[in-house]
Amino acid sequence: DKAEDMTPRPPVVTIMGHVDHGKTSLLDAIREANVVSGEAGGITQHIGAYQVEKNGQKITFLDTPGHEAFTAMRARGAQATDIAILVVAADDGVMPQTIESIKHAKAAGVPIIVAINKIDKHEADPNRVRTELLQHEVFVESMGGEVLDVEVSAKTHQGLDKLLETILLQAEVLELKANVDGRAEGLVIEAKLDRGRGAVATVLVQRGTLHVGDIVVAGTEWARVRALINDKGEQVKSALPSSPVEVLGFSGVPNAGDRFSVVETEARAREVTEYRQRAIREKTAGGGAT
Ligand code: GTP
Ligand code: NA
Ligand code: MG
Repeated sequence: DKAEDMTPRPPVVTIMGHVDHGKTSLLDAIREANVVSGEAGGITQHIGAYQVEKNGQKITFLDTPGHEAFTAMRARGAQATDIAILVVAADDGVMPQTIESIKHAKAAGVPIIVAINKIDKHEADPNRVRTELLQHEVFVESMGGEVLDVEVSAKTHQGLDKLLETILLQAEVLELKANVDGRAEGLVIEAKLDRGRGAVATVLVQRGTLHVGDIVVAGTEWARVRALINDKGEQVKSALPSSPVEVLGFSGVPNAGDRFSVVETEARAREVTEYRQRAIREKTAGGGAT
């Protein structure tokens, strides 16, 4: 892309960390605290990702557990995340999956923000967490490093605003941009067969703008986009970079981690997906039948 065609885009964030350290609670707390008043009953639809707004700027959170998102998507050479939030429970400290998460983020070259969670508990010892992180080469600011850390409680909502501000600060440094013109491309983050609606894929648009009516290829499946539904359950006509959106109209269910792209014609979509389906059949038929 030419630099002059690039437009700032929201950061895409995943939450990683050890089991029970509060990843889901934190995602839920951020979502609850940032539901726009007037949104239907304050209920946001679950589509595997959501956006919040802070000081007029958007942040996209992926709901998939960070390590799964990283392994599934990295295996396909795809990169969904700009920033990893490493959740560490202040009463438990650094644990095996904390260390795994650090390795994944470092291997992917994704900056980490440490969320020291459960700060409301009287056993909480945030400085112990900071010290333990040193051994894994995560140096937070108060330890002379550059990794940003925030004390939070998913239970009391303490520190959530500061966490969002910290994400925006980190995003500013990254200067995230994308071309909003041209055919959309991105990643499938979730897909399922829905009784009423058929094959539904939640995608993350990474560049270009996705429109209703576009012809989309994702892995071995394709769609003429019948409808787009945002994270608030609203039908929209288009989706910009860093937006999560449900896509209706797929021929079959694509895989999480598949890349998607808009193609020019249905004929092209059929050609590409039939070729890929054939390649898979030949591979599963046992390596090189003649
Ligand atoms: P897995 O998905 O199983 O790895 O767990 P998780 O990291 O998503 O943790 P989850 O959000 O399920 O929280 C685990 C437990 O910790 C639950 O009982 C939560 O209620 C509790 N919990 C989470 N955050 C906090 C917090 O800030 N303070 C307190 N006191 N409890 C919390
Ligand atoms: Na849990
Ligand atoms: Mg969870």
